[in-house]
Amino acid sequence: MSSICYLNGDYLPVNEAKVSVLDRGFIFGDGVYEVIPAYGSTLFRLQQHLQRLDNSLKAIRLSNPLSHEQWQHCLQTLVEKNQNDKYSDQSIYLQVTRGVAKRDHSFPENTKATVFAMSNPLASISKDKMQEGVAAITLDDIRWRYCYIKTIALLPNILLKQQAVEAQASEAILIREDEVTEGSASNLFIVKDGIIKTPIKSERLLPGITRDLIVELALQNNLPCEEIHITEMELRTADEIWLSSSTKEILPVIRLDDKTVGTGAAGPLWGKMINIYQSYKQNLRTQAEQETA
Ligand code: PDD
Repeated sequence: MSSICYLNGDYLPVNEAKVSVLDRGFIFGDGVYEVIPAYGSTLFRLQQHLQRLDNSLKAIRLSNPLSHEQWQHCLQTLVEKNQNDKYSDQSIYLQVTRGVAKRDHSFPENTKATVFAMSNPLASISKDKMQEGVAAITLDDIRWRYCYIKTIALLPNILLKQQAVEAQASEAILIREDEVTEGSASNLFIVKDGIIKTPIKSERLLPGITRDLIVELALQNNLPCEEIHITEMELRTADEIWLSSSTKEILPVIRLDDKTVGTGAAGPLWGKMINIYQSYKQNLRTQAEQETA
């Protein structure tokens, strides 16, 4: 059965949704997006995702076609329409493009933005499975200067990720002028001598919602955590490496290029952090269930 999506004010089966070939998203990749997990019927960190959407739209000089209240209503309705049972989790994808216009690089006048959102089932990875860890490779960060914008123009990220996959790895960890930035579709953490470190936010990386939550939870739980510049050497000599994203949560990297990371198994701080993260999620779920009971 086809899932239900949202397109410019309507809810309809995703296989019936149609956008013009002149949409600037299709022609130029001229748009931005978000990926938001929904645990049960709760959209996780919605306000933070909507704030980042505002920042991306501002950066591409497109005004937000919906208010936060309208987004909340639209996305919550989408979650409910796609919910098979009250415990099932979803990954909500939304994108806003500069709309349909004759092909011309400069901004069109009086063109309505195209607003699209869809849902996919989100199969959470169990802690046991995560514990097995993943392999990553390092690659030169060939992307542009505005990596803080969550643009739909993902060709560099796609090429980098594909290179990782062809090297039997799950992710490409990117390095720009000796500075470790992030993964092709994730943020990065390292652990050295008991300190958790993640690259400081800048135009060179996406300010991940999961990243921010990990930093927040680490500090609340008295785990030493720093937002700091990380060099290639620090990456290669780290005791632990983790990748974070809304869909993958926190994944330990156990091989980097052809070398073992730390002891070659998920590290002790990862173990602490994933327990804290999962109980934070579980508390939200329980709260939401009590509110609707
Ligand atoms: N990507 N950096 C990049 C380049 C990303 O594409 C993502 C996530 C992240 C992590 O951000 P967050 O914690 O807010 O998910 C960092 C999503 C999941 C995607 O494109 O599917």
